[in-house]
Amino acid sequence: MVVVAVAGGLGDVGRTIVEEIHRSQRHQVYVLTRQKAPGSPSRNVPECFPSVLEVDYSSRTALSEVLAKYNVDTVISTLNLHWPGADDAQLNLIQAAAECGTVTRFLPSEFNIDYNAPEEDMPYPPRVKYLQAVEELRRNTTLTFTLVRNGFFMDYLGLPFAETHLHPLYCILDISAGKAVIPGDGNCHVVFTHTRDVAKFVNELLDLPAHQWPKESAIIGERITLNELVEAAERCTGRRFHKTHDEVSAIRKGATTELPSNNPCYSYFPGGKEELDGICCTQMIGMVAGVFDIKGTELNKLFPHVQTIRLEHFLRTCWEKAGENNVHRAE
Ligand SMILES: NC(=O)c1ccc[n+]([C@@H]2O[C@H](COP(=O)([O-])OP(=O)(O)OC[C@H]3O[C@@H](n4cnc5c(N)ncnc54)[C@H](OP(=O)(O)O)[C@@H]3O)[C@@H](O)[C@H]2O)c1
Repeated sequence: MVVVAVAGGLGDVGRTIVEEIHRSQRHQVYVLTRQKAPGSPSRNVPECFPSVLEVDYSSRTALSEVLAKYNVDTVISTLNLHWPGADDAQLNLIQAAAECGTVTRFLPSEFNIDYNAPEEDMPYPPRVKYLQAVEELRRNTTLTFTLVRNGFFMDYLGLPFAETHLHPLYCILDISAGKAVIPGDGNCHVVFTHTRDVAKFVNELLDLPAHQWPKESAIIGERITLNELVEAAERCTGRRFHKTHDEVSAIRKGATTELPSNNPCYSYFPGGKEELDGICCTQMIGMVAGVFDIKGTELNKLFPHVQTIRLEHFLRTCWEKAGENNVHRAE
């Protein structure tokens, strides 16, 4: 049994990872969360969720004391470096983990692509913060780390019917509207992986001794071109999608064709539509550049007993749910 602390474990990706570790009953898991500001609404902590520890990410000493007190061996960070201040929080957490005397392994927040990609291939401003975290881990040689890369989350493709904790955001596919927005010619290969599968593999990594942790952990749900993805969506839903191919030069300027279901999603982002479009545009540029064709040591091969969610099965399941919700009338 390993004692694990998941920073941001109440968040979108973190919650799934915590659920999976907890469900397997192989390890003891704690959730790290920021101290709640006085008067702020109470947290949505599911029943039967493991212990939630409030921490002050601005104090390395305080963080270090918490990690040592609970005898934490492995820290998993799922902080989202897109949000202001989360990068410093993660850097402090790395240093605290290195200093506390109990932590031997640190899995930093990535869960995406290799951020070493040239900026023009992935012009996502927080990439610099992700790279800084890796630098910090390299400096702290007592910690073993692995960088988890899973491509684009499959969950997004089946919204709003997918079972997921991710906040909704529509990119490439909008199955309710029967629309697809494809960057360029659509022949680029992209890896799509469900958050549930990422969580399962992360749980498996906990059983692996530190010296066997790969430097770069690739998780491949499905590797497919965007054109094949749209064909699969058409097969699974039995309807023809309205397809728009956005010019890469336009996407580089932040312009992308709107997917109708994104409309209610804008308010989640402080910068509204522009911020959401910006996120989608950088992902689409990355897809065209091949950045989402994930490389590294494939955890699928390291842990062959873990069954991943296949794309067509996933889309069919989501579309069945749409039927139950009477959405097929939009055809
Ligand atoms: N590949 C993909 O398609 C994809 C998609 C989405 C996300 N991701 C990646 O997955 C990782 C997790 O993303 P997510 O969407 O799960 O994140 P999230 O839910 O937005 O945030 C995770 C947690 O971070 C904590 N947090 C936020 N701001 C903070 C700050 N300033 N300081 C300290 N903690 C802060 C919050 O926890 P508390 O409030 O409880 O402290 C929050 O619940 C990120 O690295 C993200 O880039 C990848």
